[in-house]
Amino acid sequence: ITSLPPVIAIDGPSASGKGSVAERVASHFGFHYLDSGALYRLLAYAAHHQNIAWSDAAKVASIAADMHISFAHGEVLLDGLQVSAQIRSEQMGKGASEVAVHPEVRTALLQTQRNFRQAPGLVGDGRDIGSVIFPDACLKIFLTAAVETRAQRRYDQLLQRGERADYAAILADLQQRDLRDSQRVAAPLKQLPDAILLDTTDKNIEQAVAIVVEAFKKGLQS
Ligand code: DC
Repeated sequence: ITSLPPVIAIDGPSASGKGSVAERVASHFGFHYLDSGALYRLLAYAAHHQNIAWSDAAKVASIAADMHISFAHGEVLLDGLQVSAQIRSEQMGKGASEVAVHPEVRTALLQTQRNFRQAPGLVGDGRDIGSVIFPDACLKIFLTAAVETRAQRRYDQLLQRGERADYAAILADLQQRDLRDSQRVAAPLKQLPDAILLDTTDKNIEQAVAIVVEAFKKGLQS
């Protein structure tokens, strides 16, 4: 039997802090990191620049196949160009959520995501990492927080970056995105029966990271 590198799957709603937690857990163990949301954001961004509507499933799926994506030093490159800041915008978050509803688009990104599974291991975050991309992940975490807490964190983050922010608009947008991500037919966001619930409403990033690290170590012993 060839044993595949271990995967830690961290799924959860927008702005739950899964990206920060996943990245730190990955660096703790020296594992690779897959930010699957970035792939959907890149696709929304690429479509936007080619004047392709996010609702056009076939066209969006076809560009997914020839996107050249790379991640280097925490930065995302599309066809060799730095686009990290551009894809982090609220607009591309919304676009990502819209292109992600199409089953053809999800299929087009499936192998790209599976290719990230390399020794010594992988931490992946998204909505369907534990359900569809790596159902055999050895540890599945459902990372969430109250929607008001997530809106407040996003609001603080935007202010910190010197951008304008409107708490009520952020809250409404997150609620809409939660609904779209969890009610779509293809790979909806949901807590799996074999996932550990990690609610960070009253926890900071360090506490959340420590919980995931311990859960993985415990899994290794059993
Ligand atoms: O995690 P994020 O906010 O960067 O993700 C942006 C959008 O991409 C999210 O609203 C839904 C979609 N997405 C998805 O459908 N499946 C994933 N595995 C990751 C993200």
